Amino acid sequence: MSDDKKTSGPTSGERKLHVRVKTAKKRTVSQVRWLERQLNDPYVAAAKREGYRSRSAYKLLEIDDKFHFLKPGMRVVDLGAAPGGWCQVSVTRTHAQEGRGAKLGRVIGVDMGNMAELPGCTVMKLDFLDDGADDQVKAVLGGEADVVLSDMAAHSTGHRQTDHLKIMALCEAALEFAIDVLSENGTYCAKVLRGGTENDLLTQLKQHFRTVRHVKPKASRADSAEMYVLAQGFRRNRDDADED
Ligand SMILES: C[S@@+](CC[C@H](N)C(=O)[O-])C[C@H]1O[C@@H](n2cnc3c(N)ncnc32)[C@H](O)[C@@H]1O
Repeated sequence: MSDDKKTSGPTSGERKLHVRVKTAKKRTVSQVRWLERQLNDPYVAAAKREGYRSRSAYKLLEIDDKFHFLKPGMRVVDLGAAPGGWCQVSVTRTHAQEGRGAKLGRVIGVDMGNMAELPGCTVMKLDFLDDGADDQVKAVLGGEADVVLSDMAAHSTGHRQTDHLKIMALCEAALEFAIDVLSENGTYCAKVLRGGTENDLLTQLKQHFRTVRHVKPKASRADSAEMYVLAQGFRRNRDDADED
């Protein structure tokens, strides 16, 4: 993994890579397409070379390089964390791994699927939409968080409206949790689909955060509808929230 100051990512060689799948006959068209995309994806190659568990790590690195919300000593909750790329970035940037300095951060990674242990990170296996899942994370957190991340994504149904509704439900659950646990000036960053964030959610975000923006990092595939909503400057005391 690269150090916590800079994002390296794909080299120019990796960007030019083009590999064809030779065993195409034994596979379905969609399997070949997926494999070719993986083999030719410069971020997949970079993640392998730099020791990240997922190409998604570069999305968070890019967003944080631009908006600087992960800092040493911070407490981060990462929802939809497996296989763990965002947790790796969070552990490094918050210095959550013991012995990395005086300002020791804290990272909790939550996923409904299995995630391998990661030094400096508490891994919780939970469906975050289940009743009481938020309370279980709060109990482990034992106080406020500075950053709530959500890269949660349900399996695509291929039906645009259904996928949109499913991702909005995940975003809303993450936001509800963020409003409960974030410290003053805290940050919420969550995956949404193009077409953006629904008005209700945007209104809520604007009430609770000083700055709200949509971000599409370069590492997010151009042909994917995925983007991120980034809300910074949480107002812990809702009494001073602007009603806009
Ligand atoms: C795109 S992956 C996350 C990748 C991760 N950010 C990384 O860097 O490795 C989305 C994850 O969201 C998880 N997920 C989807 N719905 C969830 C839910 N209701 N509760 C917990 N995790 C969920 C999936 O299991 C999947 O591992």
